[in-house]
This record gives sequence, structure tokens and C-alpha cells, in this order.
Amino acid sequence: MLIVFHSRCFLDNFIKVASLNELSETEGKAIKINNHNIALFKLASGEVYAIENSCPHVGAPLHNGTIEGKELTCLWHSWCFDLETGESTNCPGVSIKKFQTKVEDQSVFLCL
Ligand code: FES
Repeated sequence: MLIVFHSRCFLDNFIKVASLNELSETEGKAIKINNHNIALFKLASGEVYAIENSCPHVGAPLHNGTIEGKELTCLWHSWCFDLETGESTNCPGVSIKKFQTKVEDQSVFLCL
């Protein structure tokens, strides 16, 4: 029998990285965990996204970017990314690394 897991994250692989009330709906938060620089974003819907905090163009910190809906715009040269997919919305073929997140009891967890 072949069992295919669609996620490499199991319950015990998630690390608590923030409290939900630490995150703003108007700006991202930069964190560093196990040598990963990560940008966290809380949307108005309450969803939390985590991405590598470095723009694939020339490395701008993406937590400083602007958010409109689920689209993140890098402040340096305006490359845009869909936080849901990680894909760029204005540079075809470019994407950012995403990390799986979950929110439980007002705490934000992510899987590296
Ligand atoms: S560094 Fe992000 S668009 Fe240039």
C-alpha cells in the first residue's frame, strides 16, 4: 500500500513562533528561527502566512513589503507575490519559499 502525504509537517513538527496579537494586519514581522529568516504576515481575515524574508530579486527584506489582499509587494523594486501560492504575480516563473503555518489558541506555529 502506498501512502502519500501531501504535507511534510506532522503535528509535532510545528514550532511556536509568535502570539497572534503580536502580529499586525498592516505590517509584517521578521523572525529568525534555526538560521531561517522568515517574514510573518497576518491578514485581515486572520490567516497567517510565513515566507522566506528575502526577495528573490536582490534580497530585500520582504517583511517591509506592502500587503493588498493576499498580494505582497517588495518595497525595493515592486516585485509582487501571492502569499497563498508563493508565486510572483508580475514576474512569471519566480517564487518565494513558503512555510506552512497554523494558528491555535491565539498562538502562531510554523513548520520548517
Ligand atoms: S529586491 Fe525585491 S523587487 Fe528588487
